[in-house]
Amino acid sequence: MSTKNYNRYTVTAALPYANGPKHIGHLAGAYIPADVYVRYLRLTGKDVIFVCGSDEHGTAIPNQALKENTTPRAIIDKYDALIRTCFEQLGMSFDIYHRTSELIHHQTSQEFFLTLYNKGLLTEEVSEQYFDEEAKLFLADRYIVGTCPKCGHTNAYGDQCEKCGSTLSPRELINPRSTLSGKPPVLKETRHWYLPLQNYEPWLREWILKTHQQDWKPNVYGQCKSWIEAGLQPRAMTRDLDWGIKVPLPDAEGKVLYVWFDAPIGYISATRALFEENATGNFRYATPRSDFSKAGRDDWKKYWQADDTRLVHFIGKDNIVFHCIIFPVMLHASGEFVVPDNVPANEFMNLEGDKMSTSRGWSIEMHEYLQDFPTKPDELRYALLTNLPEAKDSEFTWKDFQAKNNNELVAILGNFVNRAVVLTQKYFSNRVPQRTQLTETDTRVLAALKEFPASIAASIEAYRFREATAGLMDLARLGNKYLAETEPWKLAKTDLDRVGSILNIALQIAASLAIVAEPFLPFTARKLKGMLGLSELKWNAAGGSDLLQTGSALNEAPLLFEKIEDTVIEAQIKKLVDSRRAVELAQQPAEPAKAEISFDDFSRMDVRIGTVLKAERVEKSKKLLKLQVDTGIDVRTVMSGIAEHFTPEEVIGKQVTILINLAPRKIMGVESQGMILMAADKDGSLRMLLPGKPVEPGAQVG
Ligand code: MF3
Ligand code: ZN
Repeated sequence: MSTKNYNRYTVTAALPYANGPKHIGHLAGAYIPADVYVRYLRLTGKDVIFVCGSDEHGTAIPNQALKENTTPRAIIDKYDALIRTCFEQLGMSFDIYHRTSELIHHQTSQEFFLTLYNKGLLTEEVSEQYFDEEAKLFLADRYIVGTCPKCGHTNAYGDQCEKCGSTLSPRELINPRSTLSGKPPVLKETRHWYLPLQNYEPWLREWILKTHQQDWKPNVYGQCKSWIEAGLQPRAMTRDLDWGIKVPLPDAEGKVLYVWFDAPIGYISATRALFEENATGNFRYATPRSDFSKAGRDDWKKYWQADDTRLVHFIGKDNIVFHCIIFPVMLHASGEFVVPDNVPANEFMNLEGDKMSTSRGWSIEMHEYLQDFPTKPDELRYALLTNLPEAKDSEFTWKDFQAKNNNELVAILGNFVNRAVVLTQKYFSNRVPQRTQLTETDTRVLAALKEFPASIAASIEAYRFREATAGLMDLARLGNKYLAETEPWKLAKTDLDRVGSILNIALQIAASLAIVAEPFLPFTARKLKGMLGLSELKWNAAGGSDLLQTGSALNEAPLLFEKIEDTVIEAQIKKLVDSRRAVELAQQPAEPAKAEISFDDFSRMDVRIGTVLKAERVEKSKKLLKLQVDTGIDVRTVMSGIAEHFTPEEVIGKQVTILINLAPRKIMGVESQGMILMAADKDGSLRMLLPGKPVEPGAQVG
């Protein structure tokens, strides 16, 4: 357990890869808990910075550029902007959201590398690695596929077989092929700089396994332990790639820093940029902070190098080894930096019974949610917070989202606040009424109110955000129950004094809610403070019985939340199912080509454009339409299997492509004299083949 005395906090949230949109699982993994934590710390008056930014290096970026047929630069600019905007709309209160493509980050990373290099802490090794001779590239593990030596799966990756789950190295694959060219790669010698993690094993054992046994989450501690116990290996800190930060050594042509070397240093560069921008007043990525306007450029150092700084990394579970082992070893080895006090990593959030995945079309992207629910950032924050994958994987469902909104935000929090304010408008012309004699219920409720902030704070400080959120809603429940028990609306005629006391107490509860809700539901908290005319108060004011002065006026009271209807939820579920279906269809291999034919074979077919004159359904057949088609040379009957795709009315008068020299055939007792040609989509739906402009019936196709 850390017993240190901390005087400032540096809080980071994993830098998202700017290679695509991010989904609500990412929010639940790292960003929302981090934001709650930081907002809470600020409310308690702590000295805290919150840094994040885009991770713009690594093979993921050029790879996405290939897919989108553009440049890496265009990719990072596009997704940095998208993610940045979404985070802002969701209320992420970063002091800075930086970018690893910025010069200051390149410099910081190179300096860091040189510090380790000059201390002799990096080892140089030559090894053989797979190289794609056609693409002229060394292949990252993910770009090599082959047969798994453990289970025989023919599409295992160079680092892992997704079928049997084994961890692999590229050299273990049988019949390896490059995913870039499809060809077998060759082995080629290459030189890299390694961080000898094994040398730090004693330090890691002491620091993590001893010091943090109590305060790190079991899922995090457990992963660290198994890594350490499996035996640590030297890890290459450089790569052969043409996208990234140049290795700052002579003789390192074509080599860049490993993305997991530079990305976490991004937290440090972001902090430098934060102070730089506040010092110069030239704001590009930072939010201005008046308390930093007089700080010097070098003040960033306190947040990384002073022993009384508490460093906390918020991440998802796939980032644990990098934030608990590799980056801390880098920080420790450099000799200048503090190491994290905690890394409260979350597990994953599933979606409607399946893994959340952008590439498989089974996800809710932040920007899509915001498009569909632009006025509801807090509703999403709440649904995620009550369902965070803190101890194990959790699951988001649209029904649960609806239930959390309708049954908790609307029915408890919104309802309570609304009743208190509306009754005050009605009976006390919108002014906080006086509290006179207290009943036993009043005293009990005021005492309970007083306990809430400390208990919610304890949950937040222990990184138990679900529990903290439940505490917030319990406070609203206390208010709701209090009104239900005291029923002030029934007393107005007989005892207006009593009504005044009740509403005074209800409004004091609402005022506490406005303070305590801020970390969780910042937009709602702001509205609520506006309604109550409450000034910005610190956390320790919450729970008090006199936050609102008797006689002070309330403001306009809009509804805080609105019900979400079933149809809205059903549409979202349909959208999800459709998007997965679209991805599956796009990934289905096209029908293989048929055997070659000669020009003569082809020219024997007589294909023309005709016009449908008549169309009718065929009795006892679901599939057939009986058509009369003007082929330009005659009018003939064609039995066509399109009735499930077109109504007779839809085809009458339309031009169609028709094969007219197909041998006649009897279908359902009618002789069919030709065949209408259609395009069949992957999902089986049929589309007509039409000339670009109408043509005379009989026009030949060939
Ligand atoms: N981009 C990484 C991911 O999305 C996270 C990087 S975190 C940092 O998994 F520490 F390296 F910045
Ligand atoms: Zn396998």
